[in-house]
Amino acid sequence: MSDASFNRIMVTAALPYANGPVHLGHLAGAYLPADLFSRFQRMKGEDVVFVCGSDEMGVAIMVRARKEGIDPQALVDRYHPMIEEAFSGFGMSFDHYGRTTSPVHAETSQDFFRTLARKDVFTLRTEEQLYDPEVGIFLADRFVIGTCPVCGYEDAYGDQCEKCGSTLSPRELINPRSTLSDATPELRETTHFYLPLGDFQGRLDQWISTKPDWKPNVLGQVRSWLNDGLKDRAITRDVPWGVPVPTDVAEELGIDAEGKVIYVWFDAPIGYISDTKEWAIKQGDSDAWKPYWQADDTRLVHFIGKDNIVFHCLMFPAMLMAHGDYTLPENVPANEFLNIEGDKLSTSRNWAVWLHEYLEELDPDLLRYALATMLPETKDADFNWSEFQTRVNSELADVLGNFVNRTLTFAARFADGQVPALVDPSDADKAALEELATFPERIGKAYDAYRNREAVFETMALARLGNKYFNDTEPWHTRKSNPQACANTIHVSLQICAALSVLMEPALPFSAAKLRGMLKLDGVRSSIPGGEAGSIGWDDAAKPLLPDCHTLGEAGILFTKIEDDVIEAQKAKLGAASDGEAEEEAAPFEPVKDTIQYDDFAKLDFRMGTIVEAEEMPKSKKLVKTVVDLGFEKRQILAGIKEHFAPEDLIGKRVAVVANLAPRKMMGTESQGMILMAEDREGALFLMGSEGENGSVIR
Ligand code: 2FM
Ligand code: ZN
Repeated sequence: MSDASFNRIMVTAALPYANGPVHLGHLAGAYLPADLFSRFQRMKGEDVVFVCGSDEMGVAIMVRARKEGIDPQALVDRYHPMIEEAFSGFGMSFDHYGRTTSPVHAETSQDFFRTLARKDVFTLRTEEQLYDPEVGIFLADRFVIGTCPVCGYEDAYGDQCEKCGSTLSPRELINPRSTLSDATPELRETTHFYLPLGDFQGRLDQWISTKPDWKPNVLGQVRSWLNDGLKDRAITRDVPWGVPVPTDVAEELGIDAEGKVIYVWFDAPIGYISDTKEWAIKQGDSDAWKPYWQADDTRLVHFIGKDNIVFHCLMFPAMLMAHGDYTLPENVPANEFLNIEGDKLSTSRNWAVWLHEYLEELDPDLLRYALATMLPETKDADFNWSEFQTRVNSELADVLGNFVNRTLTFAARFADGQVPALVDPSDADKAALEELATFPERIGKAYDAYRNREAVFETMALARLGNKYFNDTEPWHTRKSNPQACANTIHVSLQICAALSVLMEPALPFSAAKLRGMLKLDGVRSSIPGGEAGSIGWDDAAKPLLPDCHTLGEAGILFTKIEDDVIEAQKAKLGAASDGEAEEEAAPFEPVKDTIQYDDFAKLDFRMGTIVEAEEMPKSKKLVKTVVDLGFEKRQILAGIKEHFAPEDLIGKRVAVVANLAPRKMMGTESQGMILMAEDREGALFLMGSEGENGSVIR
């Protein structure tokens, strides 16, 4: 929705709770879409500020801290840097990543609260609430458990029964008890601030009616909330963790502010403003945040997952309307949920792909790209590792990587590593260049309208165009029969590569930079804050970017294929107990496989051998490369045992080897057999040596 009336873009991505590491669901819901959008807009030359930060207040943090036996501050101090690092590893191009425990945030959210209080926006209600007499605090919903009045489940939470799913209020629980002390809570009076959302119903209704272009999944939820009628929402809590209610406001109203904090869903979205203020301070102009939030010509976009829709489409806008100084979001392109391998993502079952773990093993661009093709844009979607592998191998490696590689290899061999001039272009040459010229707009329109899947499909379509053109013009034939035609193919293909190196930047930023290095293409505008202010932007990719005689860099491999064992290892991690959370009960023995006949067994050729060389396979987390002496010959054998043995400890060890296994390649290296290991129930591995000389047959 590019609109001439906008002069800057303010992008926010939901603030993740700092109560655990971030996973694939986070990336799919808010962060990847927000980053694709921000990077694209910066390449377009738009004035973008993209902020995010850790949501460090609220009961979710308290609950987790209690579980871990530490205080909330220690918890957020642990997870905030971890989250920030994972985001940075995935190339999230935030202008600022803050945290809601910062002083700027306390001040900003208290000021906001104060303004609304002084405008008489809030209502006050005194009610009886459950209070823990032993600990001396009012109990937030999650701190009360008791018997569910609907299904009889004895450990239902104060806000919800996890057995039957009923929404509850703590006072409905039968035999309630405090999770903090096990004491029976008492009812005590307390006064809270309420945001009377109902008062904003008309304005919100009217405003939403001006947004017919919002995503149907978002509008659907919003309309259903509006149809039900908006209810008042308590925006303060009596808990020991949160931004304190400003005492001056409480005093003016004759309320005791002691122990009262602002509800996390009131302060968290204000966190976007605090983050922008902190960005402005970093820029050396502490007022620089204002136009991004307060000017009418700002395009404000909130990227979130679907569970946050009501807060961003109704509650926060109502707060902004009530305040009066702020602009409202232009769009809230919320995504639906991402399942993994057909099953609901669950952190407690470890059915999740943890971003920090992924980064230890694989390249961020691969997941950025594959995930972008599977985003839950209009309905829940499924991520599965096999599709990831197909996207990487059949698209990134076979189409994009292959096209770049063959083009640059041809240019190096038959054009002296330079861009040959285009002379008397054929119809095919002209058609390819004409089609190339349509791509910045095709891809850009999709990014601008939050259709990321379409945008990455279109990006790959340009690589496909390149490959098809290369095949159709057959430069390997024209090289001899018509050298100028061959030069023209190289010229046009190089221009397509150059355009790709710009247009793939949002989805594949690390690889795009690598490709520009191979092309020696300088001067491309950066898609990250503080990056190069190059003169080549998104729309320039419609035109040839490489001048004649331009000297190219060296061709390299842009994407390597992912082998099956890597995918299997990723799948095996799903649902497995993570470190430190080993199952209490002993793992069961693996069941015995189906019976085979002697002939089946006789086909296998086991031999004794000695490991004579062993070294780590570069870039592999699992593989060790060994050479095993079988007496009659030496074999190179790769074994997935790096996590169990140090290579130097393996040298000289006697092992049993499957000697007649067909060779196969792993990470581009051939393995000529298999070393047998015993694996116990806990997954520990043991070598199986014996006395016999190398080459002895094992039967
Ligand atoms: O759902 C969540 O993870 C919240 N921490 C999102 C907050 S978004 C914004 F309002 F800050
Ligand atoms: Zn129940």
